[in-house]
Amino acid sequence: MLTRDLHDRITQWEAEPFLFAAGRVRRRIEVLDQMDACGVAEGRLTELRGRLETANAEVYARLRGAIRGGDGRQLLPFLEEGEVAAGLSYDYRDELVSGVLDLREPGRVAASADAEMVFYQPTPVRHVLRLIGAGGISVEDVLVDLGSGLGHVALLVSILTGARCVGVELDSALVCCARECAGKLGLDRVAFMGGDARTVELAGGTAFYLYTPFTGAMLRDVLKRLKEESERRSIRVCTLGPCAAVVAQEHWLEASAEPDADRITVFRSRG
Ligand SMILES: C[S@@+](CC[C@H](N)C(=O)[O-])C[C@H]1O[C@@H](n2cnc3c(N)ncnc32)[C@H](O)[C@@H]1O
Repeated sequence: MLTRDLHDRITQWEAEPFLFAAGRVRRRIEVLDQMDACGVAEGRLTELRGRLETANAEVYARLRGAIRGGDGRQLLPFLEEGEVAAGLSYDYRDELVSGVLDLREPGRVAASADAEMVFYQPTPVRHVLRLIGAGGISVEDVLVDLGSGLGHVALLVSILTGARCVGVELDSALVCCARECAGKLGLDRVAFMGGDARTVELAGGTAFYLYTPFTGAMLRDVLKRLKEESERRSIRVCTLGPCAAVVAQEHWLEASAEPDADRITVFRSRG
């Protein structure tokens, strides 16, 4: 049974101009979130929900087609609306990118083999945009996401910039899903390597991304390897999360802004 208030809200949504227009994905996601918060499944609400989801699915399918055709930048106008908040919460962009990439999640969650490993949690999409902007990632770069999880950072950066991107991930089930997504989207400049960031081949990387994938000695070991890479060519190390404070202590790196766990921090190798 609908309350009077909910009844009025549904009437307002149904009458909202342009709610079903292709460019209104963000607004539809907001309305769907508000519907979820109501916690009611009722005929009129269910019908409206179905229409909103169908309208978004059509846009996602069109954007997947653009990505397969090599024009992934068509995604950008959908991601540039609204503020870019600090912090690690998610917003409409995450829902939108998840709809476009259509990433399959593995059926089970792997238990961390080591207390220094951080469990999988995706970078909020707005920070991926900031990584591209502040990190100056271009088609000339090779971005390596160390601890890449389901792979959406590497996928998105390559889609939006044309950069070659490599994800390194210890959990083979996550690697499998990431590869499947890259294959379905025809992204031949993205690769996912199963393995430990302490030992996999890092040669060729020009920018390395760390969304605090590990801590303690594991992080120190990987930073030591990155230092060795920086002795061969200049590199950038981009961070999100608490690892920023640890990376900031590396004297061979210089931060381009005050290191901040809640934002992307870009470090450049000196010399
Ligand atoms: C916080 S998630 C970050 C995921 C992804 N980079 C992103 O930003 O969306 C950390 C990931 O690092 C992986 N990981 C932890 N230790 C690792 C290691 N030593 N080598 C490779 N991957 C590791 C975890 O399995 C997890 O998927």
